[in-house]
Amino acid sequence: MRLYIDSANIEKIKKLNQYYPISGVTTNPTLLVKENRPYLEVLKEIRTMIGEEKELFVQALGDTAEEIVEESRYITNELSGKVIVKVPVTEEGIRAIKQLTAEGIQTLATTVYTAFQALMAAMSGAKYVAPYVNRIDNLTGNGVAVVEEIAKLFATYELTCEILSASFKNLQQVHNVCLAGSETVTVAPDIIEKMVAFPSTASDVVDFKQQWTEAFGPNSSNL
Ligand code: E4P
Repeated sequence: MRLYIDSANIEKIKKLNQYYPISGVTTNPTLLVKENRPYLEVLKEIRTMIGEEKELFVQALGDTAEEIVEESRYITNELSGKVIVKVPVTEEGIRAIKQLTAEGIQTLATTVYTAFQALMAAMSGAKYVAPYVNRIDNLTGNGVAVVEEIAKLFATYELTCEILSASFKNLQQVHNVCLAGSETVTVAPDIIEKMVAFPSTASDVVDFKQQWTEAFGPNSSNL
C-alpha cells in the first residue's frame, strides 16, 4: 500500500511529507491552476521538497496522441527525478500511452470511470490507472466496485499495472478501495489528516498526561 498527496500546494505538501508515509505527489490541471503561479515553478518546488526518489505526477493536456507525446517529453525533460505523466483514457490517450511506453516514459491512465478503460490502459503499457472513485459515485455508479473489478481483471490477466485510486470525498471511500485491492491511493490533504486524527485517541492522551502530573507534579516526565 502506498499513499500519495493529491495537491500542488507547497505548504500542505511540506507538512504532510514530514508527518506521513508519503510515496509522492499527484497533480492535475485544476490543482496547478489553484496555485496561481507558473506551473513549472510549482512543480520544481514540489520536486525539491519531496526529493528525487518520490514520484511526481503531471497531467498532459494535448488532444491528439502526438500532442500528448510531445508534452510528455517536455515535462520529463524539464523535471528531474521520477516523473509519471498522467494521460486521460481517451482513444488518443491510449495511443499516446503505447507510444510513451515504447519510449520508456512512464504513464498513469487518468479519468478512469470503467474497468474496461483500465484494462485497455494496462494492456497498452500504463504503469498506473486512476479510477475516479467519488466522481463515479456522483454519477450514481459505485467507485469502490469499479476498483474491485479492475483488481480482479489485473489479477486474472497477470497485468503488472497498479491501481492508484483517486478522487475521494471522504475517508470511508479510501478505506473501502484499500480493502478492494487498490495498491495505492492519492488523497487530498484534509482527508489524509483524518487518517490519524481521532477524538478518543486525543482524549486518552490527555487522560494519561493528567494522571501522571497529578501523581508526580506538573513539570514531571518519565525521562
Ligand atoms: C488525481 O490525480 C485526480 O486528478 C483527482 O483525485 C481528482 O479529484 P477530484 O475528483 O476531487 O477533483
